[in-house]
Amino acid sequence: MMPGGYRIAVVPGDGIGLEVVPPAVALVDAAATHRGVSLTWERFDWGCDRYLRTGEFMPADALTILADYDAILLGAVGDPRVPDHLSLWSLLIPIRRGFSQRVNLRPIRRLPGIGGPLRSETPIDYVVVRENVEGEYSEIGGRLYRDSDDEMAVQESVFTRRGVEAVMEYAFGIASSRRKTLVAATKSNGIIHTMPFWDQVFDEVGERFGDVTTRRVHIDALAAELVLRPSALDVIVASNLFGDILSDLGAAVVGSIGLGPSANIDPSGVHPGMFEPIHGSAPDIAGTGVANPIATCWSAAMMAEHLGEVGVADDIMTAIESVTTDGTVLTPDLGGTATTAAVGEALVSALPRPRKPG
Ligand code: IPM
Ligand code: MG
Repeated sequence: MMPGGYRIAVVPGDGIGLEVVPPAVALVDAAATHRGVSLTWERFDWGCDRYLRTGEFMPADALTILADYDAILLGAVGDPRVPDHLSLWSLLIPIRRGFSQRVNLRPIRRLPGIGGPLRSETPIDYVVVRENVEGEYSEIGGRLYRDSDDEMAVQESVFTRRGVEAVMEYAFGIASSRRKTLVAATKSNGIIHTMPFWDQVFDEVGERFGDVTTRRVHIDALAAELVLRPSALDVIVASNLFGDILSDLGAAVVGSIGLGPSANIDPSGVHPGMFEPIHGSAPDIAGTGVANPIATCWSAAMMAEHLGEVGVADDIMTAIESVTTDGTVLTPDLGGTATTAAVGEALVSALPRPRKPG
């Protein structure tokens, strides 16, 4: 641990982000106290409200401010009063890019007690390793001849060797430490420049990981596999857009996108990681107090693990599994009637008791 404990920057953001972050902070605080780990939190009111008030989503030196923290916990960004491309490209995406968080880890796991929409109850446990700073999410392009019959829009995808290699190496590393099977999501039959390059780098990096069995699967077929044979999946490496889509689909298959955590990681370790649920700000339910806090709590467990506090992470996961196994305190997305706050309290109560010192 760092002297004085870990310093965590908290950006609840917008909509249900403001509702799911407090229970996650309370849960980590309780778990850390039980384990004798010290943490301090600093909250930043960055997001759409701030933009509507001041004209800025976050201060110009936001990345300099965040660089001093050990990790960032983020809720969600987006508000119907502000165009999404403006809010996301002014807050979330600049942090991912500015901090070279090239890898976005998105575990998909069926939690005990949660049925989900599938008939079979086989275990589901895989990780989507999403390329996080380039690919289809690119600023290169533009619009021409606006408001005329010739109006057009062009958007270029960008795949760099550095970026693709980094995400492939990370994915192979994770596959080596798990069940040693890695699927690359591709679409080289239709997207004929970037995707064959993606496949080529996948094969090249794979040569260094002889113990990992690989498959390349086109994204359309892989989407079907996620629904029809999810138990066979271990690690999937995917481009920015494909990973985005697969992670919502995967989380829905295990019960709710309110159960999808994520970790934005700089593989070089220079910049802090950012931990956030995969869901958005959900304006349709924001303010009603029924958002599922589990994805954010699970993301906070990933944060603890990333900081090296595996005991804290394990305790948070034990609490989550105990609440889902019990099944009486769940939010409406999981068929329950509990509020966000009630689930938060149940999670804290379900933490393993502190160890006796010595
Ligand atoms: C996610 C979100 C973001 C993304 C949006 C809000 C830009 O969907 O983190 O999955 O696509 O990266
Ligand atoms: Mg998404």
